[in-house]
Amino acid sequence: MPLSQQIEALRSHFLEDLNKVATTKDIESLKIKYLGKKGPISALLQELRHASAQDIPRFGKWINDLKEELMAHCENTLARMQAQELKSSLSKEWLDVTLPGRRNFLGRKHPIQQMLEKVLDILVGMGFSVQYGPDVDTDYYNFEALNFAKDHPARDMQDTFYLSKEWLLRTHTSNVQVHAMQSCKPPIRIIAPGRAFRNENISARSHVFFHQVEGIYVDVGVTFADLMATLEEFIRKLLGKKAEVRFRPSFFPFVEPGLEVDARCTRCFGEGCRVCKHSGWLEILGAGMVHPNVLKKGSIDPEIYTGYAWGLGIERLTMLFFDIPDIRMFTENDLRFLEQFL
Ligand code: FA5
Repeated sequence: MPLSQQIEALRSHFLEDLNKVATTKDIESLKIKYLGKKGPISALLQELRHASAQDIPRFGKWINDLKEELMAHCENTLARMQAQELKSSLSKEWLDVTLPGRRNFLGRKHPIQQMLEKVLDILVGMGFSVQYGPDVDTDYYNFEALNFAKDHPARDMQDTFYLSKEWLLRTHTSNVQVHAMQSCKPPIRIIAPGRAFRNENISARSHVFFHQVEGIYVDVGVTFADLMATLEEFIRKLLGKKAEVRFRPSFFPFVEPGLEVDARCTRCFGEGCRVCKHSGWLEILGAGMVHPNVLKKGSIDPEIYTGYAWGLGIERLTMLFFDIPDIRMFTENDLRFLEQFL
């Protein structure tokens, strides 16, 4: 068949196929079919080899003109289809530009976490290193090793969540004391932050779940004066020189002598409120000289070593520091409350 007829036939096949295309993907396939390396246009160009030297430029031009014509058809149809697809998607999807933008919330540290970090910073600066103890522990470490005999009435001071006869949720961070003595030799100078759990009535100043920071120092020649000086220095660094605190004798089976520290209630400044039970003071920690029986449980000879320990309540301290009227606010997850602590 002469070349002019082959070109005509190719053009009409192409136009027939072009009429059938429905999507932009079909156009791509059509392009490959007619204009690709294995397509009829390439085959015609190959055939030129057999033409006479004087026909080659003329035939070459015809084939190239056809190639450009088919290419232009493809491009035009593609552009038309893309415009149609855009138009139809725009008619389905729409954007309300008057809607207010989405607000990004900035995360903040919980006030308890802020206070914990502040307390740890000061105590680490005073030479203590941080150690962690288990939240779930045995009756032995929480009570028995701390000089609470099984039927000791002092166990009632801390109502306990028992998990089994042996296992419990620790009622104080003091469970760390004998663990620490068993894991390292004196001098021991550690602080142990963590959670404590007590099966108590919830009120403005007491919760069933709270945080404490235990402190323990055991070495040769540690005295009660060292304990007082350390606590005074710590409180001064934390609450400032003007903070009013008082030391009272107290009883804990695992220390002898024992004491408690109260801070002046910053909510009522002594006038009396729910937080300080109308006493004007808020108890923030218990402390004392480690009882010889406890040192023995930790395999430390009480004839050689002495030590002091304390347990500080973080919630009460945070309430004083940020002037928070109710301990329950810490666990309510109310953003209006939490967002105030930068
Ligand atoms: C103890 O827990 C002793 N383990 C502290 C101690 C350690 C004494 C080492 C001697 C030597 P107490 O039960 O008083 O003691 O608790 C210590 C502090 O934890 C309290 O001063 C208070 O600040 C805080 N606290 C205790 N119970 C609660 C509670 N239910 N809710 C919030 N804070 C509490």
